[in-house]
Amino acid sequence: MPVLVDSHTHIDMRLYNRDRDQVLERARGAGVAAVVDVGCDLDSSRGAIRLAAQYSEVFAALGFHPHSAAKMRDSDLERLSELAQHPKVVAIGEIGLDFYRNLSPREVQVEAFKKQLALARRLRLPVIVHCRDAQEEVLSILTEWAYGAGGVGGAKEPLGVLHCFSGDRELSQRYIEMGFLLSIAGPITYPSSHAMEIAHHIPLDKLLIETDCPFLTPQPYRGKRNEPSNVSFVAEKIGEIRGVPTAVVAEHTTANAAQLFRLPL
Ligand code: NI
Repeated sequence: MPVLVDSHTHIDMRLYNRDRDQVLERARGAGVAAVVDVGCDLDSSRGAIRLAAQYSEVFAALGFHPHSAAKMRDSDLERLSELAQHPKVVAIGEIGLDFYRNLSPREVQVEAFKKQLALARRLRLPVIVHCRDAQEEVLSILTEWAYGAGGVGGAKEPLGVLHCFSGDRELSQRYIEMGFLLSIAGPITYPSSHAMEIAHHIPLDKLLIETDCPFLTPQPYRGKRNEPSNVSFVAEKIGEIRGVPTAVVAEHTTANAAQLFRLPL
């Protein structure tokens, strides 16, 4: 069975409290060797660390999601910085901009995004980036971060990942040149998915896969709560689109995740 990594999950959320053991058991059964639990605010970042301490295959990312940007205080950045000393913290995220739902004012999102990028650089951690309806703004902020003062854009070590990437081929190439990986989630399994072209063209050594569970449940379970075991459907679909065995997709995406997050796989 191919070894998989689910590079983006929210299994710290309460709706897994009842059966989290079984959820992770099923993930193991599906070949998922590592699961990155991604924080959305201070509480969920702490939750991610708790799970990482409890389950050997869980790793934590810490950060304030753009939806929660308005509640981020400078003192929270201090807390994140302290929490990041935990050995299983592998990234800062998820951070970014969401100009679709605008749950925090746009200028506040931009401010929180930039501060957390600076934090990631200080801590020498990669970033997990959320972008919705803000392609231009995210590109310009990440370009400045990647190539600006102290930046290492184009470096051999990846700088981070654009999670649930929804841009076109040209944008994907720009991010790859800067040193980012791109991640594909469950919507790739939906009819006429926007991500089809990307899944087809992106070099396999720049690709990650994820569930973003509990959201974005792939076919055939669309409509139900998502979970890490379903990342296998994403790998399978990408293999189908590219005309390669699932095992080839698994091998590359697992190696890429291991490199980005420095996972001991
Ligand atoms: Ni997410």
